[in-house]
Formats: sequence, structure tokens, C-alpha cells
Amino acid sequence: MQRLLSLLVISTALALSIQEISAAQPSDSISRLRSPENGALSLCAQLIQPNGYPCTEHTIQTKDGYLLGLQRVSSRNANLRVGRGPPVLLLHGLFMGGDAWFLDSPEESLGFVLADHGFDVWVGNVRGTRWSHGHISLSENNKDFWDWSWQELALYDAAEMIHTINMITSSKIFIVGHSQGTIITLAALTQLDIVKMVEAAALLSPITYLEHISAPLVLRMVAVHLDQMIFAMGLHQVNFRSNVLISLVDSLCDGHLDCNDLLTTITGKNCCFNNSRVDFYLEYEPHPSSAKNMRHLFQMIRKGTFSLYNYGIFKNLKLYGQTKPPAFDLSCIPKSLPLWMCYGGNDALADVTDVQHTLKELQSTPELLYLENYGHMDFILSIKAKEDFHNHMIAFFRSLGKSSRSQVTALHDI
Ligand SMILES: *[C@@H]1O[C@H](CO)[C@@H](O)[C@H](O)[C@H]1NC(C)=O
Repeated sequence: MQRLLSLLVISTALALSIQEISAAQPSDSISRLRSPENGALSLCAQLIQPNGYPCTEHTIQTKDGYLLGLQRVSSRNANLRVGRGPPVLLLHGLFMGGDAWFLDSPEESLGFVLADHGFDVWVGNVRGTRWSHGHISLSENNKDFWDWSWQELALYDAAEMIHTINMITSSKIFIVGHSQGTIITLAALTQLDIVKMVEAAALLSPITYLEHISAPLVLRMVAVHLDQMIFAMGLHQVNFRSNVLISLVDSLCDGHLDCNDLLTTITGKNCCFNNSRVDFYLEYEPHPSSAKNMRHLFQMIRKGTFSLYNYGIFKNLKLYGQTKPPAFDLSCIPKSLPLWMCYGGNDALADVTDVQHTLKELQSTPELLYLENYGHMDFILSIKAKEDFHNHMIAFFRSLGKSSRSQVTALHDI
């Protein structure tokens, strides 16, 4: 009976939103998402080389057949390129790509800043983003191409990136993650075969639990079961540049929420980004993700868990041998692995209560930096990032393994 009832609610909601879609005229801030995508140029060629930084493109293949773009960036200062410093892998957040680390000036953007401090910077791009290169046999139009959530991003994509960089550099690596990039980093680090290749991790807006998320538009999407709606509409890819998704979001806002400032509605109030660059950011963001990934995240919000994907009792039994999906066990992350976390008081996605929950389950005691006025996007786009947290993060990396890291420790600040 209850199932019937919820089915009814969903189909009514769906019918309603389809009606609303046909009537709705997208508001200004939402129709800006339609700004044209850039051409076929590579990430190196579009954003990194034009700023004077050497950049090479690599393609790696995951165990399940996805082809991912990986960029390697070094300093624009030739002296700093003589002996490469330790490798750092950058893992972007949901609906973003590796471009996220290069959207502001070389003095403001973490990707450039790390390169200019002598680090060997590797830029990760997960499956489905514009910088990934499809699949060995599946087309992006095939629904199976989109049959994954963040657990595959952790166990296949991040694992393959870490493995490749470890092989090429013969060195353990540093990881920097933002948002979903921290979910997949922490999930990956619970795996012994992955963590042994990692020197340390720095997490911006760290997320494992999503129980206390406060972003109004996200809560509304969860409440109206947007994940189920998207599946019911036969969509497997979530692309906020598509007309269907734009209209759907617009209908959620219409009369319920003020979405004029769409980013604030989704991420919380951001203190420090450059408003005159928003149109430029929108040339790059958002990137697509999968409907299954969105549903996995919504499961976490609904259930307060940090677990594998929930398929429902029967398929769970078949796949996992138990009715509920197994949790990722944060206490498996070795106590000896140095962690650094930076979190914000205005972050509507990585809530402070949830960050504390994560900390309680870790064996180690991460170094913490709390930025009271920071929202979710400030960790990527703040124009004051250098003094607010870049310097702190770089000092953390430099304090580790000093003997084997003479290259970086010897470098002066630029
Ligand atoms: C803000 O963006 C504008 C437009 O790109 C740029 O001219 C200006 O230098 C930026 N300001 C800062 C502080 O980065």
C-alpha cells in the first residue's frame, strides 16, 4: 500500500513538473547555464598552456573500460622544472572537471599555485566529464555508459589515476580533493592496495556523511525525489546544460525557492569569489554526471550513511550477501597516513556536524583549518585562497618526508 502511495506521489509530481516545464520560462540565472560549451580543444590547450605552463595530456583506461583524461602540469619557471617535485593529484567535485583548479589567475588558482611551488601537478577527470574520453566499447548514448556512482569513481577512476602516477613517477603521491573529490579520496583510502601508493591527502570541503546538508534546492530535490523522476523520464545522464534538466530545476524553484542566485541555493553563501567571472566559469561548469550517482548521493542524504550503492533488498542480497549495502569503514584508513582538512562555516553541502562525524570515525587526527566565512565554492574559486588556505596546505605537504622531498623544501616561495 505504502509503495503504491509513493508511486502515486511520484507520478503526480512528475506529471506536475512536466506541466510546469512546458509552461515555465527559465529564469535568468538558469538560462545562463545554456552558454555555449567550448570547442574540442584539450584542457591543456584551453586553460593551462595559455597561461605559460607546460602541460601534457595523458589518457588512462580504468579496469571497467573508461578512458580518462589526465593532465600533467609544471611550473612556468624553468628553474623549478629542473628536478620535478613530488606528484600531487587533484580530484575535482561533482558536476565539475579538472578545469576547476585553473579557473582564476595563476596567483589565485590552486593548480597553478602548486605547479609554481615545484609540485608535479596531475589533474584528474572522472568518467562522464568533458575531459574524459568515453569508453572502449560503450557509447555515451548507451545507458550502460552511465551505470556508475561515486563508488566506481573511487575504486576504478581514482585507483587508476593513483596507480598510473605512482608508476610514472616512482613516488608516493599527495592527493588534493574537493567535495565529491574528497568522498572518492576517503573511500579509496579505505582500500589497502590504494593507500600504500599515497603519501598524504588534503581535503577541501571534506564529505563522507551528508546527513546535515542545508542547501535549500538540494533538499527540495531530495524531497520531491528528483532522482526517481530522472530515472522515470528515462534519463541516465544528468546534464544541467540539457533543456530537460534546466526546465526541471526551474520548475523546482518556481514559486518555492528563490533560485535567482542558483549557486547560493545549491552550495551556500560563498564569501570570496569574483562575481564578474561567473560567465567565464559557466563556460566550463557544470560537467555531466550520472543519474545513478545523484541517486547514491541522495541515499546518503536520506539515510545518513557512507555505504555502497543501495539496490534494494533483493539485489543487495545478491550483490553484497546482505540486505543493506556495506558501509565504507573509515577506520580502515591507516593512522599513519597524514591528513589535512579545510572546511567552511557557510558550506551548505559539507556541514560542520557531518565533518565532525567523519573525524570521529577516523583513527588519525587530521590537521584542521576552519574558515568561518567560506562556502562550498570558495575552496575552488576564492580570490583570497592563497592566504586563506593555499599556504597552509603547502606547508603541510612540505612538513612531510622532508628527507626524500629536498626538491620541494628547497624551493622558495614565489
Ligand atoms: C575579477 O575578474 C575580472 C574579470 O575577469 C578580472 O579583470 C579581475 O582582475 C578579477 N579580480 C580579481 C581580484 O581576481
